[in-house]
Amino acid sequence: MKDIDLNKISADDWDELNDPRPETCEFDEVVERAISRRGFLGGVMAFGSGAAAMGAVQLLGSTSAEAMVAGRFAFTPIAAQTDHTVHVPEGYEWEVLVRWGDPLFSDAPEFDHATGGDADSADRVFGENTDGMETFQTGGHMLIAVNHEYTNRDVNLPQSEEGTPASLDDVRKLQKLQGVAVMEVARGEGGWQVVTDSPFNRRITHLSPMDIVGPAAGHDLLKTEADPTGTKALGTLNNCGSGKTPWGTYLTCEENFNGYFGSTETTEDQKPVQLNEGYARYGIGADGWGYDYHKWDDRFDTAKNPNEPHRAGWVVEIDPTDPESTPVKHTGLGRFKHENAEVVLAPDGRVVVYMGDDERGEFLYRFVSNGTYVPGGSTEGLLDDGTLYVAKFSDDGTGEWLALTPETTGMESLAEVLIFARKAGSAVGATTMDRPEWIAANPHSVEAYCCLTNNKNRGVKPNAGGDETPVNGPNPRETNKYGQIVRWRPHDDDHAADTFDWDLYVMAGNPEVYNNAYGGSENIHAGNMFNSPDGMAFDSAGLVWIQTDGKDSNEGEFAGMGNNQMLAGDPVTGEIARFLTGPKGSEVTGLCWSTDRTAMFVGIQHPDAPFPDGEGKLPRSSIVVVWREDGAAVG
Ligand code: FEO
Ligand code: CA
Ligand code: CA
Repeated sequence: MKDIDLNKISADDWDELNDPRPETCEFDEVVERAISRRGFLGGVMAFGSGAAAMGAVQLLGSTSAEAMVAGRFAFTPIAAQTDHTVHVPEGYEWEVLVRWGDPLFSDAPEFDHATGGDADSADRVFGENTDGMETFQTGGHMLIAVNHEYTNRDVNLPQSEEGTPASLDDVRKLQKLQGVAVMEVARGEGGWQVVTDSPFNRRITHLSPMDIVGPAAGHDLLKTEADPTGTKALGTLNNCGSGKTPWGTYLTCEENFNGYFGSTETTEDQKPVQLNEGYARYGIGADGWGYDYHKWDDRFDTAKNPNEPHRAGWVVEIDPTDPESTPVKHTGLGRFKHENAEVVLAPDGRVVVYMGDDERGEFLYRFVSNGTYVPGGSTEGLLDDGTLYVAKFSDDGTGEWLALTPETTGMESLAEVLIFARKAGSAVGATTMDRPEWIAANPHSVEAYCCLTNNKNRGVKPNAGGDETPVNGPNPRETNKYGQIVRWRPHDDDHAADTFDWDLYVMAGNPEVYNNAYGGSENIHAGNMFNSPDGMAFDSAGLVWIQTDGKDSNEGEFAGMGNNQMLAGDPVTGEIARFLTGPKGSEVTGLCWSTDRTAMFVGIQHPDAPFPDGEGKLPRSSIVVVWREDGAAVG
């Protein structure tokens, strides 16, 4: 991998370079399969790629964005954009709330564009690559807990060649720029601002102590020399999407944790010398994804600490209202590349957590607690004592949740089922998915939605565990470039029920390029085209907000889509309207509202320069705040 610039390739592409998979399916076979499934789907038709596979499907004609103002949207949709700033509809305004490097404490220096800040203060400032976030209210204080997912090393270490850490100091700086921030925000004379030095402000990083609890805590696979108990970890890694519990805590989800680990000793064919069980399935290789932690910090060197990777890939609970609290890794929720954690309650009070594993051909999971949530009561065990399930979708529009236990999987213990949840999912025949990103539950209807962002391997290659990935009902498009959103309605209006009905809410696409269903479902038209749905949340009115992390070339198959964006969708009519466009190069990710709903906070991750500070400055991931000029609620 010597000639590859690791700053320029995605975590997914890096995973495959690390672990190449054979191409097993012929295109013609895939198209054949796709055609045979046409007509089975609920919301839209299944289809293959290319005109040969397609019959005529009904698509709306080219419709201007303005013409689509209708229904429950309180805004005039905006056009696609390709510039370096943020756009919102007429009658709305936006400004930057906080950027990478802005001090959360007054003892931190103001941001230095020459250095990108130093290691000492990197955990006293707003971190890098803002992602999932949630709002909390305690007393008279409004808090935002927000993830700092990964780093843009060439930007964060501007004085290092290609962003490669050149010292332990560089590594410490990167480790401290990631993790989570808790910060108080308030609206004053100058608009919304971070409250510097609030006693609630806190940074949790790759170095912060945390507890490991649940059925896998203390298992041999979690023990290291530094922690012979297997119950005390350091750091939370690659914090992507988020969740919020009914009892007011924050859930941060560890996604591409594998990229931080490497091995200083390798075999002749460049594999780690300690090739632990699960390394291949979870993408633990010899080099890491360019962070180079393993060269400076033994904890990330699997030649010395082969079990350390098992201590990441979990969902971590944080109490943002208690700055002294220790974050908790919940093994009951399984170990995989967690996107987000959507928590709902079953009618009987059991806690249900929906979770996606964002890698090509991996699975959709659900946890159901044994105990029930009682407001004000103990929440002990509600995220650990229960059953983890994976989804199996049938092409007839139904599906079921398959329990992952030693009995159903043939695995030795529940701890192993949870530590190697991917293997457990394969063992029971879960449906391989097109990279499950955020899951969001409708507060007004017993249903949940999941963004399946894209999957160029659909119908082409197996997943990392060797499971074939043929075109299937919820993943009906081979070499899926655009992504789709699947939704399911649990039977008996009970999120704890083991069966459900499903359909596709939308197939993203480009009807201007493809005059057939590969170009998208009926609710996609020239005025709202997008690709790669990723972030997602419902507002209080029951509209679903969709954020994108896709190709922003605005050319070829992506012509007319412009930069990454945020759209609002009506679950009832299927209508979708573009609300916000991000600056060139950025992903729009992370969404929450002020307690009074008059402000919407939106994450802008990894923009290209010159956003937000202008020409000649480093680009900085930022949270922007959006509000209505008339002061009314924005969702
Ligand atoms: Fe961090 Fe799958 O997005
Ligand atoms: Ca994401
Ligand atoms: Ca993504």
